[in-house]
Amino acid sequence: MNQTAESDPITLFRSNWATYQKLLQHNYMFHHELVHASQKLIQSIDRPLSLVDLGCGDASLSQALFKNNQISRYIACDLSQPALQLAKENLAPWSSQLELNCLDMLEQLGQIPDRSLDLVFSSYAIHHLTDQSKLALFKECFRVLKQWGSFVLIDVMRNDGQSRNNYLDQYLCMVKNDWVAINSIECTRITEHVRGNDFPLSPSEYQSLARQAGFHKEALLDAHGFHQAWAYQRLS
Ligand SMILES: C[S@@+](CC[C@H](N)C(=O)[O-])C[C@H]1O[C@@H](n2cnc3c(N)ncnc32)[C@H](O)[C@@H]1O
Repeated sequence: MNQTAESDPITLFRSNWATYQKLLQHNYMFHHELVHASQKLIQSIDRPLSLVDLGCGDASLSQALFKNNQISRYIACDLSQPALQLAKENLAPWSSQLELNCLDMLEQLGQIPDRSLDLVFSSYAIHHLTDQSKLALFKECFRVLKQWGSFVLIDVMRNDGQSRNNYLDQYLCMVKNDWVAINSIECTRITEHVRGNDFPLSPSEYQSLARQAGFHKEALLDAHGFHQAWAYQRLS
C-alpha cells in the first residue's frame, strides 16, 4: 500500500520532532531546571558511570546531563530509528562506550545483566507505558542496578488523587494558555498526542511501584507543576 506524505513515518517523525524541539527551545517542560537538578546528583557519583538512557530521543538532553561525568558504558535506547540517528551524533563524545539500540525499553532492560549498571535514566518517556508495564519497568530497573545505583526519572506526574481526565484537561489548558510560541496545528498535534498516549502517575503512585520493586529510598530532585525529577535509590 502506498503511504501518503503525512503517514510516512519519516515525515511524521520530522514534524513531531520539530514541534518537540520548539518546546525544548522555549523550556516549556522545564528541561533546563530538571536536568540541572539531576546533574547535581549524577555529578556526585565519583566513579565512571555505566548507564542506560530509556527513550533517549535525540539525546540532546543527555549530552548536557552527562557532560562532566566519566562514562564507562552508555546504552541509549529508543523505539525510533530516526531519533537514534540524531542521538548518535549528539553522543559522539562517548562513541567508543556507546551502544545504540532501537528497542522497546522493557526489552532493552531484559538484555542487561543483574546489578551491572550505576544509573538508569529516563526523561519524558515512561508516561507512555501502561501501569502494569511501569511496574515491570521499576522491577527491571532494580534488577539491573548495582547496590548503590539510582534510577533518575524526569517525567510528567499528576497530582495525588487527580483523575487522568482531570489531569489531561489541566495540562492541555496550560498548553493552550502558556505555550504561546506554538501555532494552532502544533497545538492540535500536541493535544491528540497527550490525550492518546499520556498515562502519568502521581509521585506517591510511583513511590508505591518503586517500593514494590525493592527500592529503599526516593528523593524529589525538582518539580515545576506536572514536570518533575525524582531519584529512586537501590541501597541494598
Ligand atoms: C518526549 S520524547 C523524550 C526524548 C528525550 N528523552 C528527552 O527528554 O528529550 C519520548 C521518547 O521516548 C521514546 N519512546 C516512547 N515509548 C518507548 C518505548 N516503549 N521504548 C523505547 N522508547 C520509547 C520515543 O520514541 C521518544 O523518542
